[in-house]
Amino acid sequence: MDPKAIQKLLEDVQTSLNTYQSNPTETSRVEAQEKALNLSRALERPRDAILKISYSPTIVMAIKVAHDLNVFPTLAKATSPVPLNDLAALKPADPLLVERMMRLLVANGFAEEPFPCEYLPTALSKEMTQRTSIGVVESIFLEFFPAIQKVPEYLEVIGYKNPEDPLFAALQYANNIKQDGFAWLCENPAALSRFNAFMEGQRADRAHWADWFPIKDHILTGAHKGADAPLLVDIGGGRGHDLLGFKQRVPEAQGKLVLEDLPKVIEEGRTALDLESEGIESVGYDFFAEEQPVKGSRVYYFRNIFHDWSDDKARLIIKNLIPAMERGYSKVLMEEYILPDKNARSLEGMTDIAVMVFCSGLERTRQRFTNLLESAGLKVNKFWTREGDGQGIIEAELA
Ligand SMILES: C[S@@+](CC[C@H](N)C(=O)[O-])C[C@H]1O[C@@H](n2cnc3c(N)ncnc32)[C@H](O)[C@@H]1O
Repeated sequence: MDPKAIQKLLEDVQTSLNTYQSNPTETSRVEAQEKALNLSRALERPRDAILKISYSPTIVMAIKVAHDLNVFPTLAKATSPVPLNDLAALKPADPLLVERMMRLLVANGFAEEPFPCEYLPTALSKEMTQRTSIGVVESIFLEFFPAIQKVPEYLEVIGYKNPEDPLFAALQYANNIKQDGFAWLCENPAALSRFNAFMEGQRADRAHWADWFPIKDHILTGAHKGADAPLLVDIGGGRGHDLLGFKQRVPEAQGKLVLEDLPKVIEEGRTALDLESEGIESVGYDFFAEEQPVKGSRVYYFRNIFHDWSDDKARLIIKNLIPAMERGYSKVLMEEYILPDKNARSLEGMTDIAVMVFCSGLERTRQRFTNLLESAGLKVNKFWTREGDGQGIIEAELA
């Protein structure tokens, strides 16, 4: 470790922190976090870093076990340190076992330990009481981890080709299944429920698109068909959380809001969120099998859909959409990561691999989106990006 290099990194952290404090935008926050990470990396010995990264699945395991032991709701309520024996009594579990889980959780910011074997909550332990964050942990741990473990073997079997077949991704290889990942989830109610909560949760602290996209100027102005015509169809919208978010933010919007997803997902969603009382229609629809049933909508919105599929599959989704679109009126909005041409962030890379594992999907750069959409009969109007976030909206219409 070169002390001069460390000094330079420290100065970078200080400068970016000053910028963040004087102008607390998302961009300046993310920039400061990255500079701090660079400093932290430089201070770490490579062998320690590799050991920690390799052991990191144990952290997710400890979070999952602590969740199963009901540790987080108890911790979250605590105003004074909670003794180990109180946490162990919850299930009950062996105090030594709980102590070992808590050791790892404290070391990773999921609790504080002001005195030996006494614990206080942190922002992360409080977050782990939220249904959607629980879904993130459980779905990734239970459905993705076993398949991730099989990826090297699977890639050897397919001759290190880029996975493109949703019927033979690492998920199918690991579980010996024949359907695509989403059909498989539909047959596993507990896994489907975890996954759908994960989808709600992965919006995380990211702003809803209605908070930053110029909805009024760009969508509502020009949407002239009245209250009975479709305004926004959320295709593959899961439980309808994005439509609910839209309704809350743009209550004045005239026109129908329609949720589409596989019939089992629509059914499952009814147990989680009440769309009907918000006037949101739900339709069971398979975007590979059928033409888009809602004709002439102002917007066809896809969030995290195209990243699930190879270009060939994505073209099929668009082929089924095009007959429903009205030239000069209907817009396609895809909310996705828009990968930078270099130095993508870790979360972008992790998501790219997760979709590869689950359904042979991929995240795309601008150029890849442009090539895909043009080859499918659409033209890109604009890449809408947001400060401080790798996700944006690709706006397209009929070519
Ligand atoms: C990655 S999730 C995204 C969910 C939601 N749009 C979001 O961002 O939270 C993909 C969604 O596509 C749906 N889906 C998968 N295959 C589908 C198909 N053939 N037809 C319709 N929806 C499908 C899944 O059920 C799931 O809800």
